Amino acid sequence: MNPFRSLILAAAGSDTVHRVVTAAPATRGVVDRFIAGETVGDAVAATTALAEDGLYVTLDYLGERTGDARQAEQVVQTYLGLLDRLHGEGLTVRAEVSLKLSAVGLRFDEKLALDNAWRVCAAAEQCATTVTLDMEEHDTVDATLRVLAELRHTWPWVGAVLQSYLKRTEADAAALAQADSRVRLCKGAYAASPDVAHKRDHDVDLSYVRAANVLLAGDGYPMFATHDPRLLPLLRERVRFHGRKQGTYEYQMLYGVRPDEQRRLAAEGETVRVYVPFGENSYAYLMRRLAERPANLAFFLRSLASR
Ligand code: FDA
Repeated sequence: MNPFRSLILAAAGSDTVHRVVTAAPATRGVVDRFIAGETVGDAVAATTALAEDGLYVTLDYLGERTGDARQAEQVVQTYLGLLDRLHGEGLTVRAEVSLKLSAVGLRFDEKLALDNAWRVCAAAEQCATTVTLDMEEHDTVDATLRVLAELRHTWPWVGAVLQSYLKRTEADAAALAQADSRVRLCKGAYAASPDVAHKRDHDVDLSYVRAANVLLAGDGYPMFATHDPRLLPLLRERVRFHGRKQGTYEYQMLYGVRPDEQRRLAAEGETVRVYVPFGENSYAYLMRRLAERPANLAFFLRSLASR
């Protein structure tokens, strides 16, 4: 991970930085670019627009790291309301949901997180759609995979996420590359120490390609989450090498990031899913996007200066 990214991710934990960023008027512009809005209605409107462009969607309610059962329940209720609304509007053929287990209690009660995720999965099944469990900090990976395994006994379609910056990921990919298994592969958006994570960007990329090969060679459904203009052609070549037909894998990108590329790939017949975050608690998500790309931080600072 480059020093710039590490610095921003470290600053993201500071209360002072939190206060400055959330109070800055410039934050609005950055929020609008990367986040669909605050309400379920905003999320549904963004989904409708993306679906009209031939894109698929996964919706994330921003509420990670909830501290108590009451907050976790509010997150669950929002997901249940969202699924109901998507179903009512005929959007579940195009849209699923992404769930962070820390938003439903993982940090303080794994059993509660499992029960809450269970309720979201049951509702998703009723609405004929799916759920993907986002992957968070490295110290939650084992617990997330345990919850995933429990959920998959009942719903094999529950999606997992693997992060190529972690040294364990190739082995995790091998364990998850089974029939029906939906696995999103990303680079990883959190800070982690060198004993568990690759530190050089090049090593993260190599690990991504190794894990992609494992997933493509298996019987599951790989979901390649990246905007990287160097990785994307490589993935296309790997897809061909493994004889994968369109529709047996997909590409995923974040809302507001490389939208032209999203539409270009979809026009080529690829399945492209856009990760659409919504909700009031945008700070942590926003800081990860700023850390990913100096240009995003420059955009934020420029808007700050122009006020
Ligand atoms: P990288 O960051 O190396 O960027 C390569 C290039 O892509 C940049 O040079 C730029 O051109 C473009 N780009 C990348 N990010 C950009 C941005 N924010 N704004 C503008 N341009 C940008 N992480 C995680 O830890 N757990 C998870 O569950 C998920 N889930 C997830 C879902 C989906 C659909 C996506 C696309 C990503 C995630 N991530 C994630 C985030 C992921 O780990 C990673 O941090 C980002 O995707 C950025 O990595 P890239 O692969 O795009 O490459």
